[in-house]
Amino acid sequence: MRYFIGNWKMFGVPNSIGILNKINNFVRKDKNNKKYQAIFTPPFTLLESFSKYFTKKAIKIGAQNCYHKDIFSSNTGAISSYMIKNVGAKYVIIGHSDNRFEGDTNQILKSKVAYSLKNNLKVIFCIGENKKEKRKNLTSNILKNQISKVIERKFNQNNLILAYEPIWSIGTGKVPSEKELIRTIKLIKKTLKKIFGTKKIPKVLYGGSVDSKSIKVFKKINELDGFLIGGASKSSKNFIDIIKNYYR
Ligand code: 13P
Repeated sequence: MRYFIGNWKMFGVPNSIGILNKINNFVRKDKNNKKYQAIFTPPFTLLESFSKYFTKKAIKIGAQNCYHKDIFSSNTGAISSYMIKNVGAKYVIIGHSDNRFEGDTNQILKSKVAYSLKNNLKVIFCIGENKKEKRKNLTSNILKNQISKVIERKFNQNNLILAYEPIWSIGTGKVPSEKELIRTIKLIKKTLKKIFGTKKIPKVLYGGSVDSKSIKVFKKINELDGFLIGGASKSSKNFIDIIKNYYR
């Protein structure tokens, strides 16, 4: 199973559902639709209405983040994984670099992942190095650290997805070379195998400037289980073209 996940970030109002409707109609009729799952993470304001609307439809809905406490707490503006689950969403992104910038530490992230899994959400956990770390050849160490400080053997690997998103690639049009990416994905999978002690490990996705053009290179990389897509997920045509070009 491959994953094509559209992360809308701070984009979308109620009538943006039209974009997802077009994508849903495409997926529903696509001859390859058994091979992949399309998921979208709209902002919190749209989570309940979109989750309800797309129940039993081809695409699934998730949240972009959650708070690191369990059910309810006195933290203004916070949303827990319990609340996300209760409006019908199925997934949650945790550890996106946007949130790491805002102060999410490994300890906070671990708590977010643990509570989300406890509340029966599937977690899309993001990792990735920045430009400076890449230049200093620190990518492997950074990624191993980001994984091992958060992911525990007791977590249910079936409900976890890892997304490698190099920060220097997000929204820049710059992407890792094929060789570089294969090496990194192998390293991530090796690290996960060590943690879980089994061959069965979470799926590993790539995110960062994925569009209908760059997908033509990424599709050659069999180690990749899918993609986390930002900018190109805000247009039905761009998103559909990514899937079409992947299976062409
Ligand atoms: P872009 O696809 O716009 O580079 O964003 C990637 C991303 O951050 C998805 O979470």
